[in-house]
Amino acid sequence: MADEREHNAGAAVPRRGWLDERLNLAPLLRRLLEEPIPGGASWIYIFGSVTLFFFVNQALTGMFLALYYAPAPESAYASVRFIQESVALGSFVRGLHHWGASAMMVAIGLHILQTYLYGAYKPPREPMWTIGVVLLFLTLAFGFTGYLLPWDQRAYWATQVGVNMIGTVPVVGETLARVVRGGDVMGALTLSRFFAVHVLFLPAAIVLGIALHLFILRRVGPAGPFDEERARARREPFYPRQVFMDAVAILVVFLAVVGLASSLPSPLADPADPSASSFVPKPEWYFLFFYQLLKYVPGRWESLATVGFPVVVIVFLFALPFLGKRGRRPAQRPVAIGAGLLFLTAVFFLIAESIRQDRLLAAGDQRAERGKAIYQQLGCVGCHRIHGMGGAVGPDLSYVGDARDRDWLIRHFRDPQAVVPGSVMPRINAPDEDLDALTAYLLTLKK
Ligand code: HEC
Repeated sequence: MADEREHNAGAAVPRRGWLDERLNLAPLLRRLLEEPIPGGASWIYIFGSVTLFFFVNQALTGMFLALYYAPAPESAYASVRFIQESVALGSFVRGLHHWGASAMMVAIGLHILQTYLYGAYKPPREPMWTIGVVLLFLTLAFGFTGYLLPWDQRAYWATQVGVNMIGTVPVVGETLARVVRGGDVMGALTLSRFFAVHVLFLPAAIVLGIALHLFILRRVGPAGPFDEERARARREPFYPRQVFMDAVAILVVFLAVVGLASSLPSPLADPADPSASSFVPKPEWYFLFFYQLLKYVPGRWESLATVGFPVVVIVFLFALPFLGKRGRRPAQRPVAIGAGLLFLTAVFFLIAESIRQDRLLAAGDQRAERGKAIYQQLGCVGCHRIHGMGGAVGPDLSYVGDARDRDWLIRHFRDPQAVVPGSVMPRINAPDEDLDALTAYLLTLKK
């Protein structure tokens, strides 16, 4: 207050802007921009601002998407398609929202990584870290609820998997899942529920969280370098250098998102079809590592993994600032740094593995596709029946994938009589590659 009065009385202040004369902004601006940064401005501190910027991007683009989006199973998909194809700049704005969500996740991840490496969560910054963890989970909840809204196959089946995971929580799981779905099956109530949470509940919560996070930041101040001496040696106000660095970082990432939004269409699969249960669900990349992790967990341990793993992570994150001693240097915190590196390595390994398996699957699909064509060309249909189509000289092959394996099939193709004495099936004289494709196709024929 003192500087405000000084300022008002100050004849020394030469000229004030029109707005400043009416609103007395100068002291406010000074307060905002003069926040001292221990150790000085640095590129390593940009991620919080970038995250905040992308939150604003999500809010603004989301408002425009909401002008056209219709949250009901009969209309949701068509309205998104309409945004994508007919609305002026619709596909661009949807692209900004789609890629912006990923950019926000990356930014928040790097922001947490920086805070973690620098031990900036340590006292007296426990409240700021705690609110930060809440903000992380709110952001993930935005991702989860937003993914369903286009109501396409990806959305429907990935959400189905997510809700089923919630259902594996001991005792209250089924109730929780029913609350999330708004009933026993996914439908109109699920969609309007996810929409309301995505555009009303979560925004309210996250705005409150961000305000608290920033308020605490201004009360306790930024942590600065983990080297206490360096932190004390130099102090630099937030403006101009840190503001400049933040602005450059924001501009670069925003231009990248603009580039993606204008060159790549945001994904939109076929409309959701609750009866097409063979659709292979795939979550957004930031849930991919968890999804991949579950593939390694044997069936009866599944609920332990779906519930246990998140609980461990959540408890660890909230407890972190209260563990260990005060030293912030990475060298003083071998356990925290080791655990962090291990976690990161595991996450990157799981994401890479998931992408690799996906590629293999796609390649396998292509081979099977080719095998189907070869099956037609070689006249197998003359003797074999598949789902009612074809001759009856040989056995029905509708479910041959359950009965035989790859080795058996290839041996049999090369020389049926050697495998089944007296067989009238002719040898297949085709290159190995074709036999391979044919086998891939037959192995897809399962119950
Ligand atoms: C002339 C009729 C005939 C033609 C053509 C023919 N098969 Fe056969 N196939 C048979 C007969 C008979 C058997 C049962 C005896 C045996 O297993 O060799 C058989 C068995 C099989 C089996 C083993 C089924 C099982 O689980 O026991 C497979 C797989 C198979 N055929 C695939 C093919 C494919 C692929 C082609 C096309 C390249 C083909 N067949 C062409 C007559 C035929």
